[in-house]
Amino acid sequence: MKQIDVCLTPDLLHLHTIENTIVVVADVFRATSCMVTAFAYGVNSIIPVATVEECRQWQERGYLAAAERNAKKVDGFELDNSPFTYMDQRIRGANVAMTTTNGTLAITRSRSAVKVLVGSFLNLDAIVRYLKTEGYDVMVLCAGWKGRVNLEDTLFAGALVERLKDSYAMAEDSAIMAWRLYSEGKSNLMTYMANASHIRRLQRLGIQKDIPYCLQHNLYDVVPVLRGNALVKMNA
Ligand code: MLT
Repeated sequence: MKQIDVCLTPDLLHLHTIENTIVVVADVFRATSCMVTAFAYGVNSIIPVATVEECRQWQERGYLAAAERNAKKVDGFELDNSPFTYMDQRIRGANVAMTTTNGTLAITRSRSAVKVLVGSFLNLDAIVRYLKTEGYDVMVLCAGWKGRVNLEDTLFAGALVERLKDSYAMAEDSAIMAWRLYSEGKSNLMTYMANASHIRRLQRLGIQKDIPYCLQHNLYDVVPVLRGNALVKMNA
């Protein structure tokens, strides 16, 4: 039987072997929700990079560039990482370079996996459908916050475990924990998450509307996958 595992923060990734595994990276607030939305609205590719400096280099080569640190847009870049920014004609067909505090870092650290997919509640069932066609074990990598565990990415991992648990064995307790948490909170994620640290951070910055948006399930039938150094839409 295939296995599903959950890595609760990129700082624990060194404890896992991912070379024979499909990694699903989740940064619900907001990097991976933003990427999924961008592909749904027609972006051609997204190059995820770990540093602002690398992002600037892609910008100098003519890419549209998105840079965020501590949930704020970095000066000098065209785009931030709010999903709403990407509901715009100018991104149709565009090649974007993106750096975010946690999400793009988690993606770049997963490069040795068989495949790296971008997951969020917005494309949850699309991810599930795709994984079921594959013969590999799965690991959900929660992007967390600066090495710490967060609630929203753990809940996403739990949602994925819930949907795959009949055909995948739960590898370790982190998968069981994530699934139990999701079972407890799923009937009202907004209420369950009310006091979560990144929700408070976004609220302090006046970024309210992104929160309920990113918690919606299955808005898009889109699976972004890392090919070389760029994310593209699966089957594109
Ligand atoms: C991240 O990558 O840490 C997030 O996308 C932060 C944010 O909400 O801007």
